[in-house]
Amino acid sequence: MRKILVLGSINIDHSYELEKIVRPGETVASRAYRTAWGGKGLNQAIALAKAGAETALAAQLSAADRPGLEMFCAPFGLDISKVRGLDCPSGHAIIQVESSGQNSIIIAAGANGMMEDATISAIDGYGSGDILLVQNEVDRMPEIIRRGNEQGMTVALNPSPCTEEMLDWPLELVDIFILNETEGEYISGSSQAEEMLEALAKKFPEAGIVLTLGEQGSAYRRGKEKYRIEAVKVEAVDTTAAGDTYTGYFLAGILQGKKVEEAMELATRAAALTVSRPGAAGSIPLAKEVENW
Ligand code: RIB
Repeated sequence: MRKILVLGSINIDHSYELEKIVRPGETVASRAYRTAWGGKGLNQAIALAKAGAETALAAQLSAADRPGLEMFCAPFGLDISKVRGLDCPSGHAIIQVESSGQNSIIIAAGANGMMEDATISAIDGYGSGDILLVQNEVDRMPEIIRRGNEQGMTVALNPSPCTEEMLDWPLELVDIFILNETEGEYISGSSQAEEMLEALAKKFPEAGIVLTLGEQGSAYRRGKEKYRIEAVKVEAVDTTAAGDTYTGYFLAGILQGKKVEEAMELATRAAALTVSRPGAAGSIPLAKEVENW
C-alpha cells in the first residue's frame, strides 16, 4: 500500500472577518474573530486523511499546543506521531477574510522555521512508491526535497507561498507540482495559463503539473498529456485552505488509483465545499460529504 508523508507547517490561524481587506494606513474593526488549526502542511495532511489516504504528518509546534492538536486530529486517522513539540512558539497566521470570501494572509514561522534533523528524518521510513508532499512554510526545503528523492519517493510540491529562494531549489527533483497562477507565474515567468503550462512542461518535462485557476477550474499537463476540469460554482464564504483541500484530495485520488482527470474532479468538488465554509483545516470536507454533495 502506497503511503504519503506530509512534511510541512502547522499554524494557529487567527481569522478576522471584514467587509473589505484592510488598506495601508486603515484601521478597521472586525465583524468576527476566531482561532483555528491551520498551516498548509496540516491542512493538506487533514485533506488527505479525510479523503481516506494513509497519511502521516512530520512537523513542529510548541510542546504546549501538542495536546490540542492530538484532540483535533484524532477523528480523522491522521498519523501525527512524527509531529514534534518544541520549547518555542507555534507558527501562526493572521488571516483577513472579506465578504467576497477572498483572503489575505500573514504568517509567522515560529517552530516551522526551525526544522530539526529529528523531524526531517521521518523521510527515512519511506521508500519507492510512497509520496512526499511539501510546501514552502518550513525551512531547509532544498534538503527535504533531496532527501525525499534519494529515498526513491515521488516528491509532490505545492510551492506556496512563493519566494525568491524557491527558484534555487532542486525543482528538477520534483515529480508533481500543484500550484496556482501566482505560483505558476513565479516559476515559469509567464502570466497566461496556457503559456504557463507550456513553459512549466518545457522546464520540467518529466513532472506532472496541476495548475489551479480558481473560478476557471484547473488544468493538468505532463509532457503531451493534457486535461482541463471546470470549476464547481458555489457561494464563497472563505477561500482559506481551498488550495490545500485540492492538493490533498488530488493526491489521495492518485494514491487510490484514480485516473488524473478523476482525481482532479474529486479535488475540485472537495475544494468547492471548503470554500463554502469558514476556517482552514476544520473546513475541509470528509470523503462522504464530497461523495454525497
Ligand atoms: O493555505 C491556508 C493556510 O495558509 C492557512 O491555514 C494559514 O495558516 C497559512 O498557512
